[in-house]
Amino acid sequence: MIETNPPPWLCPVCAHPLILGNGSFSCASGHLFDLAREGYVNLLLANQKHSANPGDDRMMSRCRREFLEQGYYDALADLVGSCCRSHLTANPAESVQLLDIGCGEGYYTQHIYTCLTDTTTGTMLAGIDISKEAIRMAARRYPDLPFAVASNSRLPVADGSIDIIYAIFAPSYVPEIVRALKPGGIFLNVRPESRHLFALRQLVYDDAHPHQSRAVLLDGLSHQQETRLSYPITVRQEDISNLLAMTPYYWQASREKQQQIADLAELVTEVDFIVDRYALAQ
Ligand SMILES: C[S@@+](CC[C@H](N)C(=O)[O-])C[C@H]1O[C@@H](n2cnc3c(N)ncnc32)[C@H](O)[C@@H]1O
Ligand SMILES: [Zn+2]
Repeated sequence: MIETNPPPWLCPVCAHPLILGNGSFSCASGHLFDLAREGYVNLLLANQKHSANPGDDRMMSRCRREFLEQGYYDALADLVGSCCRSHLTANPAESVQLLDIGCGEGYYTQHIYTCLTDTTTGTMLAGIDISKEAIRMAARRYPDLPFAVASNSRLPVADGSIDIIYAIFAPSYVPEIVRALKPGGIFLNVRPESRHLFALRQLVYDDAHPHQSRAVLLDGLSHQQETRLSYPITVRQEDISNLLAMTPYYWQASREKQQQIADLAELVTEVDFIVDRYALAQ
């Protein structure tokens, strides 16, 4: 059975647990964080921001949602969901907490949550992102899941409290992952592999070539497994500009090139992902 409460949040000022009551979260030291109308909480302190509105903006978040909702990347969401399931099945516990770091507008958070609905344990999944716009969209669309604005460089959760942390195309800060994982917990990191969106890259760059990425060795974590998922997709014309806007190639392409790509009747390209699985080093 899936339970949605209580969220795992800690006060970003004093690191005491946050308790929800009367429309706000509060800690034992009296720090208060309002629950936004959409149901999320903003735990990003002003001194943790490097700009007024860090993270992906509304346009990027909208484009990502519209593209992901067409199902092109659902096989990736299923794969991450099944990696989580296997870990939970092999390590049964009465209650487990998962954390999606850099969750964006929550598409994968919700999809992975539904992959776990029939696990027998009390399973809780929460999402954080540094982008307020993305978290607002996530909370509005998926009111059953707890979302917070927070940075991956300072996870708002207790030491040793999380069973599974995962990051899908999002930055991660290893000391925080090591701190937050329970003994026996795992970290899943999703990254693009060499052929990812290669046909799109060829349209943007004159000299595109497949770039090989490697599992990064992370201090305090041991790399256990690498799973590759690749398949072709045919992107319909109405989805091409959303896909382009989700990628770093968008910023590299001239206006003219962006328009040429958006005008294609369809785009046939490969997707190529790696899911790396790490455990706390012994
Ligand atoms: C490429 S998007 C991926 C979003 C989501 N995981 C997905 O795949 O749909 C990267 C996300 O990381 C977020 N992000 C960037 N830096 C971050 C940080 N320091 N802490 C938390 N989130 C961050 C961005 O706001 C953005 O939503
Ligand atoms: Zn506090």
